Amino acid sequence: MKKISAISALALVSATGAFADDLNVVCSTEQAWCDMMVSAFEEKHPDIDVQMVRKSTGETLAQVRAEAGNPKIDVWWGGTGDPHLVAAEEGLSQPSGVSTDGLLDWAKNMSDISDKKTVGIYAGALAIAYNADVLEEKNIAPPACWSDLEDERFKGEIQVANPNSSGTAYTELATFVQLFGEDEAFVKLASIGENVNSYTKSGSAPSKAAARGETGVSIGFMHDMVKLATQGFPLIPVAPCEGTGYEVGAVSIINGARNFDGAKKWVEFALSADIQSRSPEVGVFAVPSNASAKVAPQSPDLETIKLIDYDFATYGSSATRGRLLERWDAEVGSKAN
Ligand code: F6P
Repeated sequence: MKKISAISALALVSATGAFADDLNVVCSTEQAWCDMMVSAFEEKHPDIDVQMVRKSTGETLAQVRAEAGNPKIDVWWGGTGDPHLVAAEEGLSQPSGVSTDGLLDWAKNMSDISDKKTVGIYAGALAIAYNADVLEEKNIAPPACWSDLEDERFKGEIQVANPNSSGTAYTELATFVQLFGEDEAFVKLASIGENVNSYTKSGSAPSKAAARGETGVSIGFMHDMVKLATQGFPLIPVAPCEGTGYEVGAVSIINGARNFDGAKKWVEFALSADIQSRSPEVGVFAVPSNASAKVAPQSPDLETIKLIDYDFATYGSSATRGRLLERWDAEVGSKAN
């Protein structure tokens, strides 16, 4: 009798979605930052047990779409903002109810254009990096502009991520379209593609490869390049002469999250000045979204970079993303070496 009631209690627990104090987080930033966030959050909320996996931004959007209606993820933290906006538009995320007071305007903008379903947590500029030793050894003049990357001196020397899986590479695609117009952007991406040795899944992988000398040049976010340079690698970040785009990293609660209360606590925590001030401890030099958070001296100063007025509403829309990725697959990805 006792045994039966224990089993039925267990059945009741799983049917009612108990074990609700587990919080499932997908983290689309660097592993070290994901790990730090989890331990700091669990320290503040010892009653919540966080299960975290790291996945690139486009990959996470694919998972969230596949699990629509029965999500395994409660909260999606980090990664570039455009796929978060797509999730919001497709009804895959929900408002957290957390106040955006005290956040910088670019962070609030993400909330404003998504019916409060996502919000900005950090920002960073897209850039080129090169390994000074590799280029010197091969007698290749360093790049200063996006257009330089089309030159045949970079044959086999450029690494960049695939925009289907990587938010970084989607930012690059959307940046080119905004800088050069759509048709010209695809001509340029295809001609740079002639020099690309590999399209990686994750956006920060190319700069890590360039730091190690496995490729001469990478495209990625400048704060990731700065991290590698401060670790002593001969990696030189370049703000492209034509101007460049930027990301607003975001956080969203998934629609139908099993642990909404825990997810809301995560969002509050992620937006707080205290935790944002600690990201440099793990080498994260993106610009924090809380106006009271400390900005590391190593963080690239976005005021001094020629930034485009990146149109998040357009390039974070489901139709635009779908169309641009289809075109990228046909005109760039399908020609990969
Ligand atoms: O490494 C951190 C980071 O570059 C973030 O700044 C960015 O939001 C994220 O990675 C994007 O990762 P991915 O391109 O793999 O989606």
